[in-house]
Amino acid sequence: MADKEYTDPERMEKIVSLCKRRGFIYQSAELYGGLNGCWDYGPLGVEVKRNLKEYWWRKNVQEREDIVGLDGSILTHQSVLTASGHVGGFSDPMCDCLLSKARLRADQIPPQSGTAYHYTGARESEWNVEREFAVLLREGQDEKKARKTARQFYAQFHPDKSLSPKALELIGESTTEEESTTSYNPENGSLLTEAREFNLMFKTQVGASSSENDPNAVAYLRPETAQSIFTQFKNVLDTSRKKVPFGIAQIGKAFRNEINPRNFTFRSREFEQMEIEYFCRPEDGLRLTDEWLEERLTFYGEIGLPREKLHVLDVPDGERAHYSKKTYDIEFDFPFGCQELEGVAYRTDYDLSKHQEHSGRPIEYFDETTKEKFIPHVVEPSAGCDRTVLALLCEAFEEEEVTDAKGKSEVRTVMRLHPRVAPIKAAIFPLLKKNEEQVRISREIQRSLQRFMNVFYDETGAVGRRYRRQDEIGTPFCITVDFETLGEENPELKNTVTLRHRDSMEQERISTSDLLPRLLDEIQ
Ligand code: GAP
Repeated sequence: MADKEYTDPERMEKIVSLCKRRGFIYQSAELYGGLNGCWDYGPLGVEVKRNLKEYWWRKNVQEREDIVGLDGSILTHQSVLTASGHVGGFSDPMCDCLLSKARLRADQIPPQSGTAYHYTGARESEWNVEREFAVLLREGQDEKKARKTARQFYAQFHPDKSLSPKALELIGESTTEEESTTSYNPENGSLLTEAREFNLMFKTQVGASSSENDPNAVAYLRPETAQSIFTQFKNVLDTSRKKVPFGIAQIGKAFRNEINPRNFTFRSREFEQMEIEYFCRPEDGLRLTDEWLEERLTFYGEIGLPREKLHVLDVPDGERAHYSKKTYDIEFDFPFGCQELEGVAYRTDYDLSKHQEHSGRPIEYFDETTKEKFIPHVVEPSAGCDRTVLALLCEAFEEEEVTDAKGKSEVRTVMRLHPRVAPIKAAIFPLLKKNEEQVRISREIQRSLQRFMNVFYDETGAVGRRYRRQDEIGTPFCITVDFETLGEENPELKNTVTLRHRDSMEQERISTSDLLPRLLDEIQ
């Protein structure tokens, strides 16, 4: 069994660095110091992301008769998100450290015990401040630490910012013994503010409203793509004439003002989801949840995430969303730990019922065979697109020792991306850039392939160096046009090229006319 706690920060650092160096992912607004929690996909990253989305769409919409697509608006009517519970409930309890101003999730603060030192204020010459503050010391810590921390806290209010906190005299010191308290910052012992609910949605104004507080002008950037699927359920049903069970799929951006964006793109404030709402009869919900779990695990295998690195968490009662009767989290072994990639949730009839109730409009389904009217239940496989790209990059990255043509050993960096998701499918090289015929044939091959896939032409540097550059960005195939292609030495080899495989580094001779079908077969 894999160690779910295992982390490898050094490997993660190398992946982040390669992503920037080779143009997969950059920090958003890096030029201005970066916009925290937002990322831009570079020329190679955008290709991986598009390949992933296209494959997901093909498998879930194009190749299925029971699923149709939707592309809903990002700006969302506040009534939609009031009905779904996001306006009232999509929040985290937050508190602030009075000393460092760090914002912490109140429900993630570990309970601590020790002696709390309380103060009512501080003074210095003519100046004084009256404000309650406290510091928690764990057993064995010196009381001087409490006083030092308190002086640092009160020094923030002194008009002379260059004054040493040591110059302050503390007022009203008293102590209490604390057991399992969560009122203090575990990092520095400082008192925290009371917890307040912090809504994770981005709010905005729509139209040229005269008042900033006009409630009719309020809209939100959607926190999940799912809600437009629910609100358009009836329209899609009427126009597509689908029968239950059927699904609606959507890929698109979602926004959450995450308190603590971290682990590269893993927890971002702007991200993309790939979601399906699969509508069914109530009695089929649990079975379909299990079936969708298997479907989704198969999908991850098909894009190159090995089964042994995927873990299924059957989310226990009490930890699931209140409306969910069953939820599986599909987790992946990232270098920063085993973390959620996708949730497969049985959401019952909660969402459609809520929208029917709040809108006052009927959203029921009429079953023509049984003549029954009911609100369908829904199974939701909800995947993170950016998280899956990150998983693909993490899984693909490898540094391996190889021996070069002269017998010297070197480290080869290779991205073992599955050909389906690799940003460039094949690189085409003339062996010698001065050889006009080799260049002409290479360009011809490039033109014949580029209508069907992303290819790259490169004529600079030694062929070995060109291979390494492609290995590092995950190009699965390199095609070299050489003297044999021209048939100069062996007429039998005329119009053949070398096809070099990234993972094994093996080379084979292949006829130029076989290239397209062969590559199409590998990348589809
Ligand atoms: N409609 C259900 C829903 O949104 P969720 O578990 O909150 O459920 C689904 O999100 C998936 O979206 C997650 O499994 C994850 O892959 C992705 N996701 C959620 N929050 C994210 C964030 N802040 N950054 C990147 N991906 C995120």
